[in-house]
Amino acid sequence: MNIENIKSQFPIFSKKINGKQLVYLDSSNSSQKPASVINRLDSFYKNEFSNIGRSIHSLSVNATNKFDETRMSVKKFINANSKEEIIFTKNATESINLVASTFGQQNIKTGDEILITELEHHSNYVPWHYLRENKGAVIKFAPINDDGDIVISELEKLINSKTKIIAVTHLSNVTGTIVPVKEIIDIAHKKNIPVLVDGCQSAPHLKIDVKDLDCDFYAISGHKVYGPTGVGILYAKKKWLEQLPPYMGGGGMISEVKKDKITYAQLPEKYEAGTMPTAEVIAFNESIKFMESVGIENLVSHERELTNYALEKLKTINSVCIVGNPKNKAGVISFTIKGVHPHDIATILDEDAVAIRAGHHCCQILHEKLKLNATARVSFGIYNTKEDVDILCKAIENCRKVFNLK
Ligand SMILES: Cc1ncc(COP(=O)(O)O)c(C=O)c1O
Repeated sequence: MNIENIKSQFPIFSKKINGKQLVYLDSSNSSQKPASVINRLDSFYKNEFSNIGRSIHSLSVNATNKFDETRMSVKKFINANSKEEIIFTKNATESINLVASTFGQQNIKTGDEILITELEHHSNYVPWHYLRENKGAVIKFAPINDDGDIVISELEKLINSKTKIIAVTHLSNVTGTIVPVKEIIDIAHKKNIPVLVDGCQSAPHLKIDVKDLDCDFYAISGHKVYGPTGVGILYAKKKWLEQLPPYMGGGGMISEVKKDKITYAQLPEKYEAGTMPTAEVIAFNESIKFMESVGIENLVSHERELTNYALEKLKTINSVCIVGNPKNKAGVISFTIKGVHPHDIATILDEDAVAIRAGHHCCQILHEKLKLNATARVSFGIYNTKEDVDILCKAIENCRKVFNLK
């Protein structure tokens, strides 16, 4: 695989940041976009623009067909059973809120339990918290160990007859932990408990097969998978989408509207109220084509090699402390430098055009567990190279010099 060739497909890397070559290590936040995605957005607006599903003129029929083509591509990309199981939202956060709200409305009553983990992003905690506030539900947290792995035996102990749903991340956006979600789903299904998987970080880093996982719900953000912002995906088993109530009401999601009665559209439109991010969804098809052209296996092995290289190098730098040491890890590395606030690390690295993230990464429960207020985070995309890691390490050495660290 020729990474320089892949990198050349991303226009941002031909720009200078602070007069220097950009080293982008913040892909877990949002990935950069290849030219094919950017050009598709541009050409759709210039040559093909129309809303979908509402008019019968040629432009609208074309846009509707192209929108549907993306749905088919997503279905294939994650190996869903049918395109009716693919719902477009604006991001993974909305996908999870959709499930928490509709599932909660139908299935949660006072005292019922929702099981999540200490690794979760706020997007997979706060929507469930609403059910705690509004319905008197109880949220339980499966613990992690010092390495950042979920302790499956402890998770199992937290399941009881009141557990109504389990919601778990596939890949931690802090420790890079690859969670054995298939094992968790097996355990849950033996007790008839549905499982939502937050696939926000796994979709850009791993092969996703929802049929093999047998998950009930899977949430993805398009902007982390080399796609435009404004595109989220909710995969849900058809039985759930048929039985749960709609989420948002409005145009496009109804079948018939009378003064005393409203019936809803078939799947997937039942869950797609109002004007959708038409251009973005259509352009997202190019992101999937891009991922397929690289090959998920190639992507996984490139990122694994890069992660191992980065871990080895970072460990040799005095006072750098890597957060977690999970059994299975993808290209997300959080670290601290003794005596330097992560915001200062990020600011100093930015002077060398090294873009990382600092803060709690929307994981305050995890940071509390780790007894840290904040961490610095490096996260890889397909365009990163070992040279990027070398520049990162040099920039960290500069940072240590600024703070006179031994
Ligand atoms: C694990 C995880 N879940 C959910 C989200 C939320 O993604 P979005 O803001 O695109 O909805 C993120 C974003 O960083 C994430 O890392």
